[in-house]
Amino acid sequence: MNDILDGVRDHYRATGLAERLKTALTALGPEEQRLLPQQLAALDQFHTRGLAATAELAELAGLTADMSILDVGSGVGGPARFLAATYGCRVTGVDLSEPFVDAARYLTERTGQSGQVSFETASALDLPFDDGQFDVVLLQHVAMNISDRARLYREIRRMLKAGGRFATFDVVSISGEPHYPVPWARTPATSFLLAAAATREAIEPAGFRALAWRDDTEAAKAWIAQLRESGPPPSPNLGVVMGPEFAQLAANLGRSLVEGRLGILTAVFEAVPSNT
Ligand SMILES: C[S@@+](CC[C@H](N)C(=O)[O-])C[C@H]1O[C@@H](n2cnc3c(N)ncnc32)[C@H](O)[C@@H]1O
Repeated sequence: MNDILDGVRDHYRATGLAERLKTALTALGPEEQRLLPQQLAALDQFHTRGLAATAELAELAGLTADMSILDVGSGVGGPARFLAATYGCRVTGVDLSEPFVDAARYLTERTGQSGQVSFETASALDLPFDDGQFDVVLLQHVAMNISDRARLYREIRRMLKAGGRFATFDVVSISGEPHYPVPWARTPATSFLLAAAATREAIEPAGFRALAWRDDTEAAKAWIAQLRESGPPPSPNLGVVMGPEFAQLAANLGRSLVEGRLGILTAVFEAVPSNT
C-alpha cells in the first residue's frame, strides 16, 4: 500500500511548483493584486470539463452557505476556492501531494480566501479529522489513484454528519486499458479504474444510498471535441502544474474516452447507517 501511495506522490510531485506558479501568474497581474477564483480555472480545475463540472456537481449535491465541505484529493485547490466563493461555505481540502497543498495555500492567499478555505496534506485512506465533521464530501477525479476503494469510501462515510452527502465525479473503465500516460498515472502501476457499476458496489456498503447517478461520458466527449477545435487552453494552464508533457497526458485521456475505453461518472449519495 505504501508503495502505491509513494508512486502516486511521485506522479504529482510537481518539483518547484510554487515558483512556477508565481512566475506564471504574473500574466494575470502583479503579486499584490487579488485574483478571482475563476481566473485560475484553466490551471486549478484538474479534471475533465474543468470548472463546469465542479459547478454541476456542487449544484447536484445541494450546497448551501451554512455547510462545511471536505474536498478529498483537493489538488491545487480550484474546486475548493470556487465552492467557497460561489456558495459562501467553508471548505477544507486534503491531498496526498505536499507540493500541491503548498500551491493550493499560495493560490488561496492570492484569491484572498485563506479565512474560508484551508488545506492539509494527508491520505484519503487515513483522513485527519474526527467522525461526523462535514455536511458534504467531494471526490473529483481521485478514486482512480486508489486501489483500496472499500477503505476510501469508509473513510469518506466516517467524515459525514448523519444525512450528509457524498458527491463524486470520476473516471471509470468501460473496455480495456486507457492509453498511458494519462493525467493521473504514467503507468498502470498507479491506476485503479473500476467500471461504474463496480464503483457503486464499492460505495453503497460503506453506508450510502444513491440520490443521483449520471453517465457523463457523452458530455466529456463533446468537451474533448470542442478543445480539439479551439486549440490549446489559455495560459497559465495545467501545464504549469504538471509540466510540459501535460498536453500529451490530456490527449491520451481524450483518445481513451473517444475510443470507448473510459467513461465519466457523476453521482451523489446520502449517508445512511452502514452495513459493515
Ligand atoms: C487529477 S487530480 C484532481 C484534483 C482535484 N480533485 C481537482 O479536481 O482539481 C488527483 C488528485 O488526487 C490526489 N490523490 C491521489 N491519491 C490520493 C490519496 N490516496 N489521498 C489523497 N489525495 C490523493 C492527487 O495528489 C491529486 O492532487
